[in-house]
Amino acid sequence: MYSPIYLIFILASQVLAIWPAPQSFTNGTSVLWIARGVQVTYNGGNVGWSPSSFDPVDTEQIMGIQSSSSYAAGNSTFSSNSIVQAAISRNLNTLFDQGLVPWKLVGRNQLSQFEPAANSSQTFISSLAITQTQADTLNTYKPLAGDVDESYNLTITTDGKATISAVSSTGVMHGLQTFIQLFYKHSTTAGMYTNLAPVSIIDAPKFAHRGLNMDVARNWFPMENIIRTIDALAMNKFNRLHLHMTDSQSWPMDIPALPDLSKKGAYQTGLSYTPTDIKQIQTYAVERGIEVIIEFDMPGHTTSIGYAYPDLITGFDAKPWATYCAEPPCGSLQLNNTAVYDFLQTLFNDVIPRVQPYSAYFHTGGDEVNSQVYLLDPTVKSNESSVIGPLIQKLVDRNHAQLRSSGLTPIVWEEMLLDWNLTLGSDVLVQSWLSDASVAAITAKGHKALAGNYNFWYLDCGKGQWLDFDNGASFQTYYPFADYCSPTKSWRLVYAYDPLAGVPANQTHLVQGGEVHIWSEQTDPVNLDDMVWPRASAAGEVLWSGRQDASGQNRSQITASPRLAEMRERMVNTGVKVGPVQMVFCTQNNATECSL
Ligand SMILES: *[C@@H]1O[C@H](CO)[C@@H](O)[C@H](O)[C@H]1NC(C)=O
Ligand SMILES: *[C@@H]1O[C@H](CO)[C@@H](O)[C@H](O)[C@H]1NC(C)=O
Ligand SMILES: *[C@@H]1O[C@H](CO)[C@@H](O)[C@H](O)[C@H]1NC(C)=O
Ligand SMILES: *[C@@H]1O[C@H](CO)[C@@H](O)[C@H](O)[C@H]1NC(C)=O
Ligand SMILES: *[C@@H]1O[C@H](CO)[C@@H](O)[C@H](O)[C@H]1NC(C)=O
Ligand SMILES: *[C@@H]1O[C@H](CO)[C@@H](O)[C@H](O)[C@H]1NC(C)=O
Ligand SMILES: *[C@@H]1O[C@H](CO)[C@@H](O)[C@H](O)[C@H]1NC(C)=O
Ligand SMILES: *[C@@H]1O[C@H](CO)[C@@H](O)[C@H](O)[C@H]1NC(C)=O
Ligand SMILES: *[C@@H]1O[C@H](CO)[C@@H](O)[C@H](O)[C@H]1NC(C)=O
Ligand SMILES: *[C@@H]1O[C@H](CO)[C@@H](O)[C@H](O)[C@H]1NC(C)=O
Repeated sequence: MYSPIYLIFILASQVLAIWPAPQSFTNGTSVLWIARGVQVTYNGGNVGWSPSSFDPVDTEQIMGIQSSSSYAAGNSTFSSNSIVQAAISRNLNTLFDQGLVPWKLVGRNQLSQFEPAANSSQTFISSLAITQTQADTLNTYKPLAGDVDESYNLTITTDGKATISAVSSTGVMHGLQTFIQLFYKHSTTAGMYTNLAPVSIIDAPKFAHRGLNMDVARNWFPMENIIRTIDALAMNKFNRLHLHMTDSQSWPMDIPALPDLSKKGAYQTGLSYTPTDIKQIQTYAVERGIEVIIEFDMPGHTTSIGYAYPDLITGFDAKPWATYCAEPPCGSLQLNNTAVYDFLQTLFNDVIPRVQPYSAYFHTGGDEVNSQVYLLDPTVKSNESSVIGPLIQKLVDRNHAQLRSSGLTPIVWEEMLLDWNLTLGSDVLVQSWLSDASVAAITAKGHKALAGNYNFWYLDCGKGQWLDFDNGASFQTYYPFADYCSPTKSWRLVYAYDPLAGVPANQTHLVQGGEVHIWSEQTDPVNLDDMVWPRASAAGEVLWSGRQDASGQNRSQITASPRLAEMRERMVNTGVKVGPVQMVFCTQNNATECSL
């Protein structure tokens, strides 16, 4: 098996840099350098990219493309010009300021053999010509799955002409991310070079919805954590950030029409996202090809509403909590109380105008509804699904009608469809988490589905219980205190997940993609990056490139590992504290010893 040819293949694949893997990639071995003077054009117009970052929302740049395609979203204006201009500046600054010297990726003390000589015969990339073949539309910036053609092509000739062509500005941004991954920093001259020319890449995503679900309610995450996460998502060609905004433990989002919600429901008054914060998150994401989807989970997972509005919640902090909810403090929206309906009307009236300019979706939650808690609900007094089910249907219908009237498409957790058997509009996207069979069950009912089986894509798993046990019987029963979804989902396990597993071929078109999840009981700003990365990168490649390669074979950990290790170094250089993929012994061209 370990023939010399096999060995050479392993070693060669080590430096084919790109993460996630392009659909098609051919390269040579010629060296090209790139310098800050490189001429960049966008649809024929020169782009004077600026060496410091700026906010494109407030900057109208004069460039090659006709700026007729400029869209007012709320009071932000997005245009292809401003978005591409900013992306060029950002990516080239990353290339020149945060370049990677690949000593960990070549053999011990072999960097000087890997690195090209930096002498007077250097050939430089003279131009990077970016062509966008179609004008963006408003849907480019707040797309439904499938609205945006994210494909791009990238070429570099041996005489130094680079091109990126794409249909949309989003595709241009993906092409730029790929472009900068082709270069390394020289260890002695600090020049930037690629040794892969000529390059030809044809690339497009396998799935239209490629997301991270981030729980910002179990622990408080200051803004910079979300901003940094958006940057990291963009590097990995994700296009959705789902913020699990609210839960029983805290309500960290200001609702100006209901000010007490966050004033009393946040962990501490002030630890909440203001409308300005939310808008900054949304626009920052849009400018990076990422759509933010906000979730208000309900009717379960809503105890935090009760700090401000106790009369809307049943079973507030009810004990024993294991009877009345999945996690303390218990509490669920009352189901047959007109005051709850009035509250929801006010809540959504407030939030919809602040979401609708930047997103096509709103997530209304619906996981883990506990029946017992409705025995305590004075407006219901029953735990029978035949009583509760129709009341949940009415609540969900109300919410979804209000969202639809403003053009938003609802998303729900799978339990609404598969456990409560609700009748949902055909527009509703159903997010699965429990099993592969759930994804198939959702599509069997004709619904669009998001995959993300918790046995593969829950990044919180394997840390052990967040509960403390006494030294009595519970200690013995629960020792060694494994959590509900142990073991840890290593990047290899994340990478082994196929979002289409178990879905019949004639229904795979309904699987719009998936999300990898970080629930935050044991994650806060201190360990966020290490909990999410590089494992989310593994999901990113599955969603962009597919579980199988072009020949239909499962992608191999053995060839993925060196590329992921390289991506990890590039992410660390941009300030994301990504954990290591392998020890340096393994990344230094000893791949055959570190695989089975
Ligand atoms: C592509 O790059 C790899 C790694 O440098 C190299 O081994 C391989 O020969 C290149 N392919 C071609 C066709 O030159
Ligand atoms: C822009 O929107 C924010 C809130 O989204 C609002 O406070 C501000 O007044 C608006 N500015 C203009 C000029 O409309
Ligand atoms: C530049 O370096 C290359 C590779 O080491 C070598 O072949 C070439 O002769 C050098 N040219 C000059 C002018 O030194
Ligand atoms: C990329 O290349 C493919 C194959 O040549 C072509 O079909 C496609 O139109 C190109 N896409 C763009 C955006 O140029
Ligand atoms: C809901 O409340 C109304 C008005 O109080 C009552 O007539 C109805 O029976 C209740 N429905 C259920 C299912 O409890
Ligand atoms: C309803 O509650 C009763 C009393 O607590 C319990 O015996 C029964 O199992 C519950 N039924 C359901 C469907 O949860
Ligand atoms: C929903 O349908 C499933 C399958 O038919 C059934 O097992 C379940 O009891 C139903 N749930 C409710 C709340 O009726
Ligand atoms: C490919 O991976 C899937 C899991 O994603 C696994 O079920 C299947 O057995 C693998 N196929 C082969 C041929 O190894
Ligand atoms: C899809 O394929 C399954 C077999 O895998 C078949 O039973 C079913 O009828 C097909 N459905 C449609 C709509 O063609
Ligand atoms: C690791 O790989 C490098 C070259 O790829 C080789 O020179 C070195 O001997 C290897 N080290 C071990 C311990 O196998």
